[in-house]
Amino acid sequence: MFVVSLLLGGMIICPLILSVFFPYFWTDLVYHTELLRILLKFLSRRRRRPLFLALDRFSEQVATRPNKTFIVFENKRYSFKDADRESNRIANALRVASVLTPGDTAVLFLLNEPAFIFCWLALAKLGCACALLNSSIRARSLVASFSCCRGAKVLIASEELQGAVEEVYEDLQQEGLTTVFITSEELRSSRMKSLTRAARESSDAAVPQTLRANVSFTSPAVYIYTSGTTGLPKAAVINQTRLLAALAVLASNGVTDTDVIYVTLPLYHTAGFLVGFLGSVETGSTIILRRKFSASRFWDECRTHKVTVIQYIGEVLRYLCNTEQRASDKEHDVRLAIGNGLRSDVWREFLKRFGRIEIREFYASTEGNVGFLNYAGKIGAIGRISFLHRKLFPFALIQYDTERDEPLRNSRGLCVEVPKGQTGLLVSKITEIAPFVGYAQNEQQTEKKRLRDVLKHGDVYFNSGDLLRIDHDNFIYFQDRVGDTFRWKGENVATTEVSDIMSMLDFVEEANVYGVQVPGHEGRIGMAAVKLMDGAEFECKKTFDHVCRFLPVYARPRFIRIQSSMDVTATFKQLKLKLVEAGFNPSMTSDSLYFLCEREQTYISLTLSVYQQIVSHSIKL
Ligand SMILES: *[C@@H]1O[C@H](CO)[C@@H](O)[C@H](O)[C@H]1NC(C)=O
Ligand SMILES: *[C@@H]1O[C@H](CO)[C@@H](O)[C@H](O)[C@H]1NC(C)=O
Ligand SMILES: *[C@@H]1O[C@H](CO)[C@@H](O)[C@H](O)[C@H]1NC(C)=O
Ligand SMILES: *[C@@H]1O[C@H](CO)[C@@H](O)[C@H](O)[C@H]1NC(C)=O
Repeated sequence: MFVVSLLLGGMIICPLILSVFFPYFWTDLVYHTELLRILLKFLSRRRRRPLFLALDRFSEQVATRPNKTFIVFENKRYSFKDADRESNRIANALRVASVLTPGDTAVLFLLNEPAFIFCWLALAKLGCACALLNSSIRARSLVASFSCCRGAKVLIASEELQGAVEEVYEDLQQEGLTTVFITSEELRSSRMKSLTRAARESSDAAVPQTLRANVSFTSPAVYIYTSGTTGLPKAAVINQTRLLAALAVLASNGVTDTDVIYVTLPLYHTAGFLVGFLGSVETGSTIILRRKFSASRFWDECRTHKVTVIQYIGEVLRYLCNTEQRASDKEHDVRLAIGNGLRSDVWREFLKRFGRIEIREFYASTEGNVGFLNYAGKIGAIGRISFLHRKLFPFALIQYDTERDEPLRNSRGLCVEVPKGQTGLLVSKITEIAPFVGYAQNEQQTEKKRLRDVLKHGDVYFNSGDLLRIDHDNFIYFQDRVGDTFRWKGENVATTEVSDIMSMLDFVEEANVYGVQVPGHEGRIGMAAVKLMDGAEFECKKTFDHVCRFLPVYARPRFIRIQSSMDVTATFKQLKLKLVEAGFNPSMTSDSLYFLCEREQTYISLTLSVYQQIVSHSIKL
């Protein structure tokens, strides 16, 4: 009896004690169990012969749920079987044209449309790799991206992008292009071929598996381009192993075949392709594909299609928060949002406004060899680290010298780890299970991302270029991109932290913070480009009091620039470079500029005269 009550008591008390002293015990346990299950599945797939590739998962879905809707696009609907047949037709058309041999790379220059997915499937069936070009690039970038895949001869483009191809046709030919297919029947030039017509006239019979006989786990599967702030796009090589691993991303976040995924991000990029598209292939869920993200149509479409899973990057959720409030804001079936780059302020506001949606913020880069996932819903964190994580993917946060823009080294020439709670540069050991393949045809850029002699002489790490911080609960936080931190008066200023504070002001819609140089001063001084709420005015005194209350002296934006709209790229990353170049000279812009004046204890208008006094040092900074 005593033993029984002890056991019963233990069963009640143990979880209680665990949840008090280890608040994340159960969350961690559930997550790690799930992770283990997925890891085992991955390993067992890796052992299968003939090889099991991402394409084979698609074939499994076609076999088990042929009639289930796979893609909904505008007013069209395709089942798994439809997608299988469409891709067979394209594959057979390409075989008839005999422009590709297994092992070749074809270049896709496509907008978000079902043909994107059909072409990828077709090429995978033919044993070919695909380069996924950013559909916004033109001219020199287009040629450079094409030439990243040595030996590519075939380019497949959307109807709308014919002009862009035509513009640089001769240059592309110089780089080896022989055939351009267009995914429509309408051709603007006789130099192009209609893939749609060719596919319509081709058989939908399955493509022989023997064509894929030479594909191995190390074969390149897709090339995804990453654009830095400078230079031409670089192509990250994603091999078959990586693709197989990517299948798991949505599944490991609890997505199943009953889910409906809303894909509004570009398919040519990691979030849309590796997470959204492959996630649906793995789980057998339905994709609602949209040509472009639209904040105003977002929720209506979610309601119409009973969307349950949405994806975001950077500013996407902010744009949703910025739409006009509606009574129906909480009426939808969305239960999960997965992505990266969500700021804490937007995170809170999003939950308040749109109800209980689980947010899975993760950290990963297309080419990097380390990732984190915040599976505990901790606002602001990009992930959670554990012993297992560190064992599998050894990484370190090391001290970074923002002034010289390089990692700090000790007397032995090695890097120095930061103590817990402090910000450091994330570097991740390059190992067999965490390889860094690098960029196609770009050894110089690849080498730049390799950091040597990090913790031991002779070791090699991947340099993420990101500054992170780990707290005492083992949550990990994104602080800044290297270069997004600037130094003023010997202190490091993290721009995202300052923008978070600025966006707390109720008349500020968005704030973009950066450092500008002032002649005769070391480092950079803080400046914020601010977009005001519709109809709102910039309130000088209120802003002054706010920054004084929340920011240390060195981090307060001394200059403020009021912008009517923010420059955003296709993936919504804020563009700072132009702002930094324009600086705080009132004659360089027609935007209103303000200056934090310590003497007057408020922001004042930054006139030419004030500007000259600053530059001539009669106003001290
Ligand atoms: C799919 O639909 C076809 C035609 O409507 C039908 O013959 C077939 O049995 C269905 N397959 C499954 C697995 O439901
Ligand atoms: C596979 O590789 C072998 C040896 O290089 C070659 O002879 C064969 O044609 C290749 N098969 C395919 C389908 O590419
Ligand atoms: C591709 O995958 C393998 C594992 O199958 C990995 O070891 C390798 O580094 C990856 N990259 C290349 C280019 O082979
Ligand atoms: C795509 O290209 C455009 C135009 O160059 C660029 O602004 C954008 O950042 C690129 N997107 C990605 C995801 O690289």
